[in-house]
Amino acid sequence: MTTYTTRRFLQTAGLLIAGLVLGACGKQEPPKTAEAPAASAPAPAPAPAKVHVVGTDAAYAPFESQNEKAEIVGFDIDVVKAIAAKAGMEVKFVNTPWEGIFNTLQQGDRDLLVSAITITPERQQSMDFTAPYFDAQQLIAVKQSSKVAKFDDLKKLKVGVQTGTTGEEVVTKLQGKNSPNIKRFESTPLALKELEAGGVDAVVADNGVVINYVANNPAAKFKAVSDKAFQPEQYGIAVKKGNTELLAKLNKGLADIKADGTYDQIYTKYFGAPPAKAAAPAAAASPASK
Ligand code: ARG
Repeated sequence: MTTYTTRRFLQTAGLLIAGLVLGACGKQEPPKTAEAPAASAPAPAPAPAKVHVVGTDAAYAPFESQNEKAEIVGFDIDVVKAIAAKAGMEVKFVNTPWEGIFNTLQQGDRDLLVSAITITPERQQSMDFTAPYFDAQQLIAVKQSSKVAKFDDLKKLKVGVQTGTTGEEVVTKLQGKNSPNIKRFESTPLALKELEAGGVDAVVADNGVVINYVANNPAAKFKAVSDKAFQPEQYGIAVKKGNTELLAKLNKGLADIKADGTYDQIYTKYFGAPPAKAAAPAAAASPASK
């Protein structure tokens, strides 16, 4: 009796489960007859806005660095965010080591680069740059007790530079390619730490970064030494060579934020005052004065 009931129960349950499974399968099967007219097919969802991946070597304050929350922040970041807002672009910043940063454009891992990148003729061979967005120059960092007063004084001294930067370039010109006194570092903060530790006599890097470091690390007891021999440099935002569409968007956005005061606001936030204006553009533009 008991056995019979149990068996019946199991059989019934088995049938029920089989039915459920079949029913479920049936629901998931695509319709055999493709009768649905094309017109009733749901319209394809609009493609999600492309997120432009921005590469930056975030160890170059005040242009790009990571804050305590590991967020990438800085002047360059604010500039690109403002440009993106104008251009209706979505951007996402990805910390990218300077060494190899230009290859990421080539490989399509990054859509654009903002990293206090000096526009140079060599770099223009392999990538495209926006209009310049920042004027810069090399600057020497030394200990306050140092006798270094000009660039030429570094000729026989140990000098720290970040590999692959314009700072490395100028020091290489001064000392020669094979000089054992050029100490190359993968980031500028590492070079500056070595200066603090006494491993090098000077560091050559972009003025904004040196000034920022000297000001924010009083315990390091550094001073900055400038020299008229350093050529003016200009930063640009880089895109893959031939990406004219993105370049045009960025240039338009940059012009827009310069025209409406956003750029000056960002500049003032980081450097305390708006950028010096080019001398008398109105007079230069006027054709009337003869
Ligand atoms: N302006 C220099 C150059 O283009 C240094 C830039 C380094 N930038 C950085 N985020 N580490 O070579």
